Amino acid sequence: MSDTSLDPHEGAVDEERRDFIHIAAIMATLGGVGAVAWPFIDQMNPAGDTKAASSLDVDISKVPLGGEIRVLIGGKPFFIRHRTPAEIASAENVRVDSLPDPETDDDRLVPMPNGELNRAILVTSGACTHLGCVPVGPAQGNTGDFGGWYCPCHGSHYDTSGRIRKGPAPANLPVPDYRYVSDTMINISL
Ligand code: FES
Repeated sequence: MSDTSLDPHEGAVDEERRDFIHIAAIMATLGGVGAVAWPFIDQMNPAGDTKAASSLDVDISKVPLGGEIRVLIGGKPFFIRHRTPAEIASAENVRVDSLPDPETDDDRLVPMPNGELNRAILVTSGACTHLGCVPVGPAQGNTGDFGGWYCPCHGSHYDTSGRIRKGPAPANLPVPDYRYVSDTMINISL
């Protein structure tokens, strides 16, 4: 390995490492806070075949109104949120061209088998688009300034459509590849 003491960027690298350790510590703390939500993961995971690592069926009828469940697929976090009528209205009543990452709420939904949108259910990645922390949400009693999620690592606020509204995150929480298997079951895949 090369002698990094000669590297003019060494200070910056050390600072990056410290930042990462700091973020990891915050995430470990949040892991404790979010412990109520995460046990759903094992319950819903199909018993350990290889498919379980790359996709997951989720029974959306189990998501409480106004709440969410959080699942891990291949080590990546995802949120499944059951939005209230007020949260849906809040997601829709936005001037899209004023958003940092303009997307309509409908753009972020996937049709059910009958072709209609289920506006109550929102599915997003659970990784902040800034540096990848897992934002807190209704399960932790903090939905940020726009009622969606809040990332405490550096203060990013997401709205009830998972769109970035304030803070350093550059983009909306991505909508993963998912489909409706039935009216009450979705399959999320990596
Ligand atoms: S990781 Fe920096 S605000 Fe979320």
